[in-house]
Amino acid sequence: MGPSLIVTTDLNDSAFLRACRREPVPYTPVWFMRQAGRALPEYREIRRGVSMLDSCMRPDLVTEITLQPVRRLGVDAAILFSDIVLPLRAVGVGLDIVPGVGPVVAEPFRGPADIDRLRPLEPDEDVPYVAEAVRLLVKELAVPLIGFAGAPFTLASYLVEGGASKTHARTKAFMYADPAGWALLTERLADIALASLRAQVHAGASAVQLFDSWAGALSAADYATYVLPASRRIFAGLADLGVPRIHFGVGTGELLGLMGEAGADVVGVDFHLPIDEGARRVGPGRAVQGNLDPAACLAPWEVVAARTRDVLDRAKGLEGHVFNLGHGVLPETDPDVLERVVDLVHTESARTTTR
Ligand code: CP3
Repeated sequence: MGPSLIVTTDLNDSAFLRACRREPVPYTPVWFMRQAGRALPEYREIRRGVSMLDSCMRPDLVTEITLQPVRRLGVDAAILFSDIVLPLRAVGVGLDIVPGVGPVVAEPFRGPADIDRLRPLEPDEDVPYVAEAVRLLVKELAVPLIGFAGAPFTLASYLVEGGASKTHARTKAFMYADPAGWALLTERLADIALASLRAQVHAGASAVQLFDSWAGALSAADYATYVLPASRRIFAGLADLGVPRIHFGVGTGELLGLMGEAGADVVGVDFHLPIDEGARRVGPGRAVQGNLDPAACLAPWEVVAARTRDVLDRAKGLEGHVFNLGHGVLPETDPDVLERVVDLVHTESARTTTR
C-alpha cells in the first residue's frame, strides 16, 4: 500500500454545507446568485445561437455553463444552470424566455378554469435532462451543487401576469378574489417545485434553494395567509432528504421571520437590510445568506472591498453565514471583480472565523 494519489474530497465537510448547518468553518463560503450565465464571456460564447430554454435541455451545455463560474471565480458552490419556469413548460404551459425580458406566458392564467392546465410534474418523463445534467456535474465538481426551484408565489405571478410585473396586481387580485382557487393553484405549483427539487437531490444535488423572488410584493399578513402554506409544503416535503434548504426573495425585510418559519435552514437576505439586522429578523436556529449589493460590483474596487468587508464584519458573530450578493449578478459585471470578491471573502474570513 503506497501513498494514494487520489484526493478524496468529502463534500459533506465543505465550508458551504458546514455554514448552512451552522457548524464552524475555516473561512466564510461564497457563491453568487446568477453566477452561471450573465457576466461571463465564455457563457455568451457557448450560448450563441441556442435559446435559453433549449440550452437548459442539453445536459452537455448545462454541465459546461454550471462549471464555468466554478472554474473562473473559485466559488464554494455551484448552482445548476436552468430556470424556474422550465418545469412549467415541461408540464405543458406555453411559455418562452425572451432575451432581455424574461419569461413570457402565451396564455396567462385568468381564473379557476386555468388551474387544470397544471398537471403534476413527473421528473423522469418530463425533465429527464435535468437529472442527467446533475449526474454529469457531480462527477466533475469538487464543490457542492445547489439545485433550485421557483416558489409558488413567484411562479404564480409569471402565470397570472403573463410575464414580469412591477406591482403583481393581477396576481394579488386573483389571490384576494378567489382564495380557494389560489390555494389550489399554489398547492399545484408547490408539488411541481417539490417534485423537481427531489429529483435534483436524488441525482446528486447537495443543497436546494427555493426562489420566491417576488414575494416582497406582499405584506407579512398576506404572505402568512396566501403564500406560507404552499412554501411550507415544499420544505416539509424535502425534510427527509437531509440537505440544506435555502429560501430567498427580494424586498422581503418584513417577511424574513416567516420565510424561515416556512421551513428553511438558510434564509437569504437581500441588499435592503444590513445582514446582521436580517439575521435578527430571521431569528435563531437558521443560517443567513447574503448580501453585497450586486450594483456595488460596478463601482471601483476600493468600494467593492469596503462593502464586502462590511458584510463580513456584520456577519462575524452569526451562527452560520454564506456570503452572496443581495440578488443576482448583473450582466454588466466584470468577472474579475467577482473573482476578487471571492478571494477577499476567503482571506478576510480565514483570519477571524471560528474553527
Ligand atoms: O443562478 C444561476 O446562474 C443559475 C441559473 C438560473 C437562471 N435563472 C438562468 C437564467 C437561476 C437560478 C434562475 C432563477 C430565476 N429565473 C429566477 C429567480 C432568481 C432571481 O433572479 O430572482 C427568476 C425570477 C427567473 C425568471 C427569469 N429567467 C428572469 C427574470 C430572467 C431574466 C431575463 C433577462 O434577460 O434579464 C430569466 C432568463 C435567464 N435565466 C437567464 C439566465 C442565465 C438570461 C437568459 C440569457 O442569457 O439569454
